[in-house]
Amino acid sequence: MNASHADDLTPKFARTGEGTVLARHTIPQQESLPDTAKQIVDDETMLDGNSRLNLATFVGTWMDDEAKQVYEASFDKNMIDKDEYPQTAAIEDNCWHMLANLWNAPDASESIGTSTIGSSEACMLGGLAFKRRWQQARRAAGKDTSKPNLVMSSAVQVCWEKFCNYFDVEPRLVPISLEHKTLDGYDLEKYVDENTIGVVAIMGVTYTGMYEPVAEIAKALDEIQAKTGLDIPIHVDGASGAMIAPFLQPDLVWDFRLERVHSISTSGHKYGLVYPGLGWVVWRNTQWLPEDLVFQVSYLGGQMPTFALNFSRPGAQVLLQYYMFLRLGFEGYRAVQQASQDVAKYLAEGIAKIGAFELWNDGSDIPVFAWYLKDGHTKNWNLYHLQDRLRMKGWLVPAYPMPDDLTDLTVQRIVVRNGLSMDLAAELLESIETETAYLDALEAAMPVEGQHPAFHH
Ligand SMILES: Cc1ncc(COP(=O)(O)O)c(C=O)c1O
Repeated sequence: MNASHADDLTPKFARTGEGTVLARHTIPQQESLPDTAKQIVDDETMLDGNSRLNLATFVGTWMDDEAKQVYEASFDKNMIDKDEYPQTAAIEDNCWHMLANLWNAPDASESIGTSTIGSSEACMLGGLAFKRRWQQARRAAGKDTSKPNLVMSSAVQVCWEKFCNYFDVEPRLVPISLEHKTLDGYDLEKYVDENTIGVVAIMGVTYTGMYEPVAEIAKALDEIQAKTGLDIPIHVDGASGAMIAPFLQPDLVWDFRLERVHSISTSGHKYGLVYPGLGWVVWRNTQWLPEDLVFQVSYLGGQMPTFALNFSRPGAQVLLQYYMFLRLGFEGYRAVQQASQDVAKYLAEGIAKIGAFELWNDGSDIPVFAWYLKDGHTKNWNLYHLQDRLRMKGWLVPAYPMPDDLTDLTVQRIVVRNGLSMDLAAELLESIETETAYLDALEAAMPVEGQHPAFHH
């Protein structure tokens, strides 16, 4: 009898693989039965946290059953095979046109956009378009192109630091402060110069969820242009906010209504309400995406333009986005985002009432907010201790230091997503109250060795 036949009869947890300790870094010599292999994967990942209780992530952790069916029916489709899957390609096109319209492009038929694997790739494409456009203008004027820089807040997401590192652009970080909690145009003239390829404005700062006032940043750049002649474009990193503001703050002017906004990116897998990984980037007009960055792939016997860092990529997420647009429509998105915001405000209000904490913001931009310990409240514990206590109950509520110039300040943050119901939020608030009371009752200081942030930007 061969080994796998013997395994067939052996009780599951006594089989090879489950009954032994597997080598982790070499591929096993022999096959396993499918259900043994699956059991091992299930067992090992059982130790992961529960994604629904992960309040650190912005990424979608709940979709309905029909979405799961769409996913299951399409997870074998490769987004780059436009010729083989022309309908998926056409649906991708529909989706970014819908976004161009949602973001008030003056004429969406003149816009250009693409799906990506997430906001990081989308931001890099936005940055690359800036860099190439700047290089072309400088070369045409016979000027030096060796020192491009990009201006943004010190609270940018790490993808922008990566962009600068990978594509040789100097990052110019404008530090945030208690007076200027976001990049708001203040002092901008000290950071921009003839080598500035663009300015990044964030709709929904990762650290806190606050919107940067894009219109004020644009106004500051208008004034700089009037004085110096420098015409500096804006990319809006709307990883979260570009899928919140159109629904919850329709009168806020942050998008293509501002002439200076050349491109906008978002994560379909955040408040676009799709599972990871999906992002989008749209340029207001084809003129802002230099043609020499665009490659052609074959499509229905012809050619289709693509601009991407990846080649192969799942097509299923794009179909999920389309499903969500059709399923929810504008009103449905508004209702879902409003429900998340109601939960965020309820939690923020409850946390403020505990007495130990000061709110940094209250979730009224995107449904995300942060808080810090009141000055002088206690010497016995800090927010990392509260993070650990909550983790024992399954909740992941990360604590971490703020960026420059506020690195001495530790905050804790909650990202409210579709799926954190008011009912579940009431349980969370009760846990925060109970654990704060526990920590406040301590008579001696908790150890602080080995404390570290549970979230990285
Ligand atoms: C403002 C901002 N930009 C970019 C990103 C990167 O997004 P992704 O994880 O989709 O690559 C994030 C992620 O949290 C973000 O908050």
